[in-house]
Amino acid sequence: MHIRPEIASLPAYKQGRQAAADAFKLSSNENPFPPLPGVIEAVQAQTAYNRYPDASALALRAELANRFGTTVDEVHIAPGSVAILHELAKATSGPGDEIVYAWRSFEAYPGVVTVAGATSVQVPNRADGGHDLDAMAAAVTDRTRMVIVCTPNNPTGPIVTAAEFQAFMGAVPESVLVVLDEAYAEFVTDPDAVHGVPLLERHPNLVVLRTFSKAYGLAGLRVGYALGPAYVLDAVRACAIPLSVTAQGQAAALASLEREDELLARVAELAERRDTIVTELRAQGWDVPDAQGNFVWLATGERTGVAAERFEQAGIIVRAFADEGVRISIGEHEAVGKLLETARSLVGGLTRVAEARPLR
Ligand SMILES: Cc1ncc(COP(=O)(O)O)c(C=O)c1O
Repeated sequence: MHIRPEIASLPAYKQGRQAAADAFKLSSNENPFPPLPGVIEAVQAQTAYNRYPDASALALRAELANRFGTTVDEVHIAPGSVAILHELAKATSGPGDEIVYAWRSFEAYPGVVTVAGATSVQVPNRADGGHDLDAMAAAVTDRTRMVIVCTPNNPTGPIVTAAEFQAFMGAVPESVLVVLDEAYAEFVTDPDAVHGVPLLERHPNLVVLRTFSKAYGLAGLRVGYALGPAYVLDAVRACAIPLSVTAQGQAAALASLEREDELLARVAELAERRDTIVTELRAQGWDVPDAQGNFVWLATGERTGVAAERFEQAGIIVRAFADEGVRISIGEHEAVGKLLETARSLVGGLTRVAEARPLR
């Protein structure tokens, strides 16, 4: 049987490690809070398991369109924003085409490109862990069909500023689709950060990706969305696996939007926890990049395996990137002490912290 060679050698998406019952799972940038009570009831009210869901997710699209001032056709819903990345890549790119993105960034990007049959062009991050947007714009050729900009960048943490993004959009031809992946947008507190939604009117080649998995705490129900030009999202819809957003997921997302103030108060608490952790880590001597998502990056370099093991012994599961660093999600309040204690025990072993941070 024939398997495309590039698929045969493509590893399946590697999920953050599951944690033992008494450990904190800080490996997948999940939200530590359970859904709000109204959300659980809304899900429980969806009992027509023998029926297919509304394939067009119209109620949720209408609500989001209303909030963001777009038409319903300028909103697309999918089982997670990672599904939309796949749909966008398939809709725009095939063999011989290139998709540009920063590296290191979200681990799913290389697979998304390969599955579409296209070619990845990875542009190394700046030394501070942020996107090098000048280099990304320079990497665009007449083969480029799509550029992915991830802000804040997973796993390193820094945002793209509004000024940087404006200059970038000015440098990229309008025939190239720019995807602004804002999976962690709600956690951003830096006033200079770019916000994609208000820019949609100005740029006909922009699509903004958001998700209910992170700030809204619905990772298990798989709901993400895209905002952008209707004709682009129509092409994306044509590439979607039909009926893959469940009625339960749609109901949970709608109920969460109704309780947005309470949810966003939790998000503010997590952002504050993140800032405290970053301050403490820097005081310990770590060179932590600016953290604007719900995670922090420790550049443990060649000691990454040792660091991940030490965290695990302390009851914290982190995401390890071999020879580069560990990403630690901002989780339960009770995990903070252990996290900082373990980080302190490690920093002494890194003889040259700054040099041990190949963020590229
Ligand atoms: C940058 C980024 N984009 C997209 C996603 C996908 O999230 P979901 O498919 O749960 O919406 C993630 C998840 O970790 C992410 O980090």
